[in-house]
Amino acid sequence: MENTTFKKKYTAIPLTELEQSAFCQTTQPKSETLEVEFTVGVRWQSLPITYMKLPPKEIEEQIRTKRAILGKEILILGHHYQRDEIIQFADITGDSFKLAQHAANNTDAKVIIFCGVHFMAETAAALAQSNQKVILPNMTAGCSMSDMAKPEDVLDCWNSLKEVLGPNSITPITYMNSAASIKALCGENNGYVCTSSNAGKVMEKAFGQTDKVLFLPDQHLGRNTAKTLGIPLEKMIVWNPFKDFGGNSLEAIKESKVILWKGHCSVHTRFNIDQISNARSTYPDINILVHPECTMEVVDSADYVGSTEYIRKMVEDAPGGSIWGIGTEISMVNRLSKANPNKTVFCLDPIVCPCSTMYRIHPAYLLWVIDNLLEGIIVNAIDLESSIARNSKIALDRMLSIK
Ligand code: 13P
Ligand code: SF4
Repeated sequence: MENTTFKKKYTAIPLTELEQSAFCQTTQPKSETLEVEFTVGVRWQSLPITYMKLPPKEIEEQIRTKRAILGKEILILGHHYQRDEIIQFADITGDSFKLAQHAANNTDAKVIIFCGVHFMAETAAALAQSNQKVILPNMTAGCSMSDMAKPEDVLDCWNSLKEVLGPNSITPITYMNSAASIKALCGENNGYVCTSSNAGKVMEKAFGQTDKVLFLPDQHLGRNTAKTLGIPLEKMIVWNPFKDFGGNSLEAIKESKVILWKGHCSVHTRFNIDQISNARSTYPDINILVHPECTMEVVDSADYVGSTEYIRKMVEDAPGGSIWGIGTEISMVNRLSKANPNKTVFCLDPIVCPCSTMYRIHPAYLLWVIDNLLEGIIVNAIDLESSIARNSKIALDRMLSIK
C-alpha cells in the first residue's frame, strides 16, 4: 500500500452526456438532410457535400437499389434504438446480446455494417471471423455511459482493489456498454462481459468464483441485478473514479460484496416514479415495462423489467387491448406503438428524447458506406489492436457460453 501513488482526480462530464438532450422535442423527430441535422449541437463525422444535401427520400431509394447489388456480401445489423429510416434496411434487429450472437455466427458476409453505437461495433469486430470487416457508419456514434468509464481510470480502480483485497478475490464484470479495452481487462482477469439480458446469470457465475464483484460501468444495472440475487444494499458500494479509492474507506471496500462503477445512462435515468404513478392513475390496468438501466426505484415500481428484445417481445406477444407504459428509448417505443395498433403503447417520459448517439446513424452515412463498398472501398472499419481483440473475445465468449 505504501508504494501506491494516487493521482489527483478531476471531474469530467463526457461530451456525449452534455450532448444527450440535443434531439429532445415534443414530437417524434423525422430525418432531415444531414446538412440540416448538422445544425443540432452534437459532433458528427463529416461527409462529402453531396451526401449532406441529399433529401431523405432520395437516400432511401438509393440505399434500396444499391444494397440489393451487394446481396449476402453484407449483413446490416440494427439495434432497436435506431431510427425507423435505418431499421427498414436492417437484416437483423435486436438487443446487444442478439446482435453480438449474429455477429459471431454469420460467416457468409464479408462486411458487417453495424447500425448501433461504437461499443456494439467493437464487440462485433472482436467476435467476427478474421476475414470479415465491421463498419460503424458514423464514428461519432458513441455512448455516454460507456464514456463514463475511461480505461485508464478502470485500470487504476482494478489495481487499487487488488492491493486492498489481495489477488483472486474479486471478479470484474463489464456491461457490454464499455470500451473494448475494458472488456479485455475482464478477459485477462477471469472476468466477464454481460448484457441487460444475461446480467443475472453472469453475476451468479462470478459469485461462484469469488465472493466480490466489480460491476462496470452502469451502477443501476449492477444494483438492480445484485438486488435480484439477494445482495443487500449495504453490501454494495459505489466507486467514484474521481476520488481516491473511489471515495470509499478501506473497511467499506473489504466489507462490500458488489462494487458499482459510478456510471449511468442519460436516457434511462430520465424515468422516475412520478411518471409511473401518473400512468397508473390514468390507466389502472396498465403494465409498466422498463429497461434495467433505469434506477432501482423505477425498476422496483415496474411490473416487468428486461432488455430491449424482451421489451419488444412482451409488447408483441401481449393480448389486444392491453396497455403498456414503457421506460426505454423513444425511437423504439414509437415503433412498437405503430406496430401494435390494437394495444396502447406509450413512453413513460412525456418529452421525446432519442438516444443522441444512436440517432447519429443518419441514413446518409449508410448510403455513403454502401457507395464505397460498391467501389471496393471499406470506410469506417473498426480495427481492434490484436491483444485487445483477443482478450475482449475471451470475456465475450465466457458470456456467450453461459446458458
Ligand atoms: P439492450 O442490450 O437491452 O439492447 O441495451 C443496450 C443499450 O444500450 C440500452 O441502453
Ligand atoms: Fe448508451 Fe444509454 Fe444510448 Fe444505450 S441508451 S447507447 S446506454 S446512452
